[in-house]
Amino acid sequence: MGLEWAHEGGMGRRVGAGSRDQGMSAARRNAVVRGGAAGVSPESQVADPGQAAVGQARIGWTEQAMPVLGLIRAAFEREQPFEGLAVAACLHVTAETAVLVKALTAGGARLHLAASNPLSTQDDIAAALAASPGVTVHARAGVDRRTYYEHIHRALDAEPGLVIDDGGDLVNTLHAERPELLAGVRGGCELTSTGVARLRRMAADGTLAFPVLAADASKTRRRFDNFFGTGQSVIDGILRATNTLLAGKVVVVAGYGLCGSGIAERARGLGAQVIVTEVDPVRALDALMQGFRVLPMAEAAPLGQVFITATGSRDVIGPGHMAVMRDGAILANAGHFDVEVDVRALAELAVAVHPGVRPHADEYLLGDGRRLILLAEGRVVNLVAAEGNPAAVMDLSFAVQALALAWLAGNGDRSERDGRGGAARDARGAQTQILAPGVHETPATIDTQVATLALASRDTEIDALTPVQKEYLDSWRQGS
Ligand code: NAI
Repeated sequence: MGLEWAHEGGMGRRVGAGSRDQGMSAARRNAVVRGGAAGVSPESQVADPGQAAVGQARIGWTEQAMPVLGLIRAAFEREQPFEGLAVAACLHVTAETAVLVKALTAGGARLHLAASNPLSTQDDIAAALAASPGVTVHARAGVDRRTYYEHIHRALDAEPGLVIDDGGDLVNTLHAERPELLAGVRGGCELTSTGVARLRRMAADGTLAFPVLAADASKTRRRFDNFFGTGQSVIDGILRATNTLLAGKVVVVAGYGLCGSGIAERARGLGAQVIVTEVDPVRALDALMQGFRVLPMAEAAPLGQVFITATGSRDVIGPGHMAVMRDGAILANAGHFDVEVDVRALAELAVAVHPGVRPHADEYLLGDGRRLILLAEGRVVNLVAAEGNPAAVMDLSFAVQALALAWLAGNGDRSERDGRGGAARDARGAQTQILAPGVHETPATIDTQVATLALASRDTEIDALTPVQKEYLDSWRQGS
C-alpha cells in the first residue's frame, strides 16, 4: 500500500486541522502513521502500526460472520451514499467495528475513528484500520482520560457531516467544546441507551443541534443483541470461567427481560433446570408459561447451583441469600453495572478469599466451610470472561447503523434549513424530509431492510402478501 510508518515527530500536519491541533505536543502522540498512497488518510494515532497484518487477518475472519454488512458494503460501493462526507465515529475499536468502518468507507465516507473506551481498543485492529483507505484512527489501548478526549478532538477535526457515538462522549464534546463545527453536521447515530439518555437530556434543554437516530432502541438491536447475543455470550462466559457442566444443574436467572429470558432459554437448552426470579408480574407469568419455575430469590437461593443476575437493578443477591446458598454455588452478573450481586457483603461474610482459582473466578470461603464462587468480580460476565456478542449479532446492529447513516446522509446540508434550526422547508414553505434537531427513532423500514438482508444472506425466503390478502388486512369492512 506504499505506507510510510513514522513514530514521534515524523508527522506532517493534516491540512485543515482544527486549531486545537496546533498545540498538540509530541508526547501526546504515541505513534503516527503517515500515508502517501492515494485514498489513505495521512494521519493516525495508533499504538503499533506493525500489528496491521495481524489485525487485517482478524478483520477478514470477522467479515465472514457479518454477511449483512457485506451486502450493504456492496450496495454502498455502487451507490456512494457518503460521497465527500467526513464521518467522525467514537466506537469500541474491535474487529466488528472495523467491518462497519469498511462498509462506510466503501460508500465514499472519510472515516475518522476515536475509541469509545480505551480498555476495549484492540491495537492490532486500530493498526489495520489506520492502513485502510479513507480511515484515520485515533485510538490505542489503555490511554488516560486526557488522551481519550484528545483522540475525540482529533476525530472532530475532520469537520464531520455525520457522527456515530457509543455513550455520548463525542456528541457532548462536539457541543461543549467545538460548537463551530455544529452547523456542518447533518445528523448522527447513538448506539447505547446510556448515550441516548444523555442526548434526550440535551434535546430537552434545547442544546442538541442536529437530529440523532437512537439505534439502541431499534427492534433488531433489542431482540437480537439482548436475547440471542447476550443470552449465548453470558453462558459462554460462565463456561469459560468455570468449565462447569450445566446439564442437570439448577440455574437461577434473576430478571426475565430480554437478556434474562435469552439466558434462561440457553441454559435450559444445555439441560439445566432453570428457576426465574422477577419483580414484574407480567414477565413472571411469561416465564411461568414458558415452562420455567418462578420463585422469589429467598426461596431460590438454597436451591441454585449457578446464579445469573440480569435485572439492571442492585442488591438482587444479598447477604441473606448468600447465607443459605449451597456449597460451590457460582455467582455471575450480566447486568450493566457491578451492583446486582452485593460483592461487598460477600467479602464481609467470607473468612478467606482465594482470588483467581481459575481466570475470572474467585472463591469466597465462608465461616461454616461453604465456598461461593464469584465470576468476573461481579462485572458483566460475558464481556469480562468471554468476548461479548458474537460477530453475527453485531452484524445486525451495525447494519442498522450503516443504513441509518446512509439515510441521514440524505438528510441534506444544514445550510438548507430554516434559520430557527428546524427542519428545512421548500420554496413554498412546506416541510421537506429533513429531520429536525432532536432524538428520533430509527425508521422501522431499516429494521425490515436489515432482516430481509439477513434472511437473504442465510438463503432463506419467505412468503409475500398477495394483493387480496393485503386488501383484506387493510380493510375494516370485512368481518365474520
Ligand atoms: P429489561 O428491562 O428488559 O429486563 C430486566 C428485568 O429485570 C425486568 O423484567 C425487571 O422486572 C427485572 N427485575 C428488576 N429488578 C429485579 C429484581 N430485583 N429481581 C428480579 N427481577 C428484577 O432489561 P434487559 O435489556 O434484559 O437488560 C438487563 C440488564 O442487562 C441491564 O442492566 C442492561 O444494561 C444489561 N445488558 C447487558 C448486556 C450484556 O452484554 N451483558 C447487553 C444488554 C443489556
